[in-house]
Amino acid sequence: MADYIMAIDQGTTSTRAIIFDKEGDPRWTSQKEITQHFPEPGWVEHDANEIWLKTLQVIASVMIEAELEPEELDSIGITNQRETTIIWDKETGEPIYHAVVWQSKQTSGIAQQLIKDGHKEMIHKKTGLIVDSYFSATKIKWILDKVEGSRERAEKGELLFGTVDTWLLWKLTGGEVHATDYSNASRTMLYNIYEMQWDRDILKLLDIPEKMLPEVRESSGIFGKTMEAVFKGHRVIIAGMAGDQQAALFGQTAFEKGMVKNTYGTGAFIIMNTGKEPIQSENGLLTTLAYGLDGEITYALEGAIFVAGSAIQWLRDGLRMFREAPKSEKYAMRVAGTDNVYVVPAFTGLGAPHWDQDARGAVFGLTRGTSKEHFVRATLESLAYQTRDVVDAMNEDAGLKTKTMRVDGGASMNEFLMQFQADILDVTIERSKIMETTALGAIYLAGLATGFFKDLDEIKEKWEKAGTYEPHMSEEEREDLYEGWQAAVKATRAFKF
Ligand code: G3P
Repeated sequence: MADYIMAIDQGTTSTRAIIFDKEGDPRWTSQKEITQHFPEPGWVEHDANEIWLKTLQVIASVMIEAELEPEELDSIGITNQRETTIIWDKETGEPIYHAVVWQSKQTSGIAQQLIKDGHKEMIHKKTGLIVDSYFSATKIKWILDKVEGSRERAEKGELLFGTVDTWLLWKLTGGEVHATDYSNASRTMLYNIYEMQWDRDILKLLDIPEKMLPEVRESSGIFGKTMEAVFKGHRVIIAGMAGDQQAALFGQTAFEKGMVKNTYGTGAFIIMNTGKEPIQSENGLLTTLAYGLDGEITYALEGAIFVAGSAIQWLRDGLRMFREAPKSEKYAMRVAGTDNVYVVPAFTGLGAPHWDQDARGAVFGLTRGTSKEHFVRATLESLAYQTRDVVDAMNEDAGLKTKTMRVDGGASMNEFLMQFQADILDVTIERSKIMETTALGAIYLAGLATGFFKDLDEIKEKWEKAGTYEPHMSEEEREDLYEGWQAAVKATRAFKF
């Protein structure tokens, strides 16, 4: 009997395999760190073979730890760091260059040129995205420009492109299946999210041969079976795939229009389900595909904040203000406020809704009385303020007023931050009991395709919260504080080297 289901969660910093039971509870996990390569300042690359081999390792070790036979697995759902770009040889399976990671800035010049040449509007209209090096398109062009002869080989059909989901699917199926899902395709800046196809105009503009692109499928469905070598001769079905942030939305069971989730990881990714209709943002948000299920597409608005948890890491490792990240909560709570200190952690520019790649971090309002406590508190508050920037933009675009936001990720455990988040947004914050919402989304998508889970209602009933934070702050105080933040962001953006 197949009583279990496996998620492969291939993130930016690690790869994990997690086995869940029928209740949707994570039972066994295996994790391996991924080496980060920084060949030049601002560049971030991964070794795609390392990603593949570590995926195999975590699959093997979680199966051994769980003492399960492969037949006891219903299926696999894959979720992944999005946008990261891999190009490989169709015959040998050898990547022709490192995986260029979503954070990597080596293609900023290509993105800037596209904007200069006046293509911003056209690309936004077709893909729902802001032209930026963040997405796969400029990374594919860059690799094809860099590796000699690769464009010609791609034209001949000898090379394949994939985001990490596609790469792992292709490897796991022994090269049988070259496919992606809607959520990942919508992050390439090559996929027309209105016509639901690869966009020939953008492909032409960037000189990317269509032949190398994967087939785009629903996020829930039978993608293929693992090759025999992976599970002792047994071929396990791969039945779900979604980019990690969309998978987290699914794992949070935010199936209804207007529902919002925020994952506080290294960065923070806020997504609002906008239902069957795409909403074009007027406020710097991304229109994206949340998932495809049962012949229907669900759209979303997304705001990506580049620095969230990494600001807390900076306090810990860079400024050595404390040894353990959870300590930040204690320091923040020792003072009643920040005494008008604002930290704008624009370490790698500002993401949504500002999209200012040249901005850099700043601190405002220092006095002789400023203490470590104020500093820590102001940094934590910056996560909440950045979230408010995005949620305000979402509400305006969608014509809605968000009442509840579901949260997950490391910093969602920080009680001070969650209460401040509720206060500054004036919404109820709900933290889900299961923190593995990304992996959960992947197994839900897989299990819905195989019948392991019956339907969305069954899944919805499984969602439980572990914490609720209601807003208590007065309107006046909230708006005063937020005005201070807006002034700090404005001043930060005005200061350029
Ligand atoms: O868009 C990038 C995002 O998918 C990365 O997520 O959790 O791997 O840092 P994570």
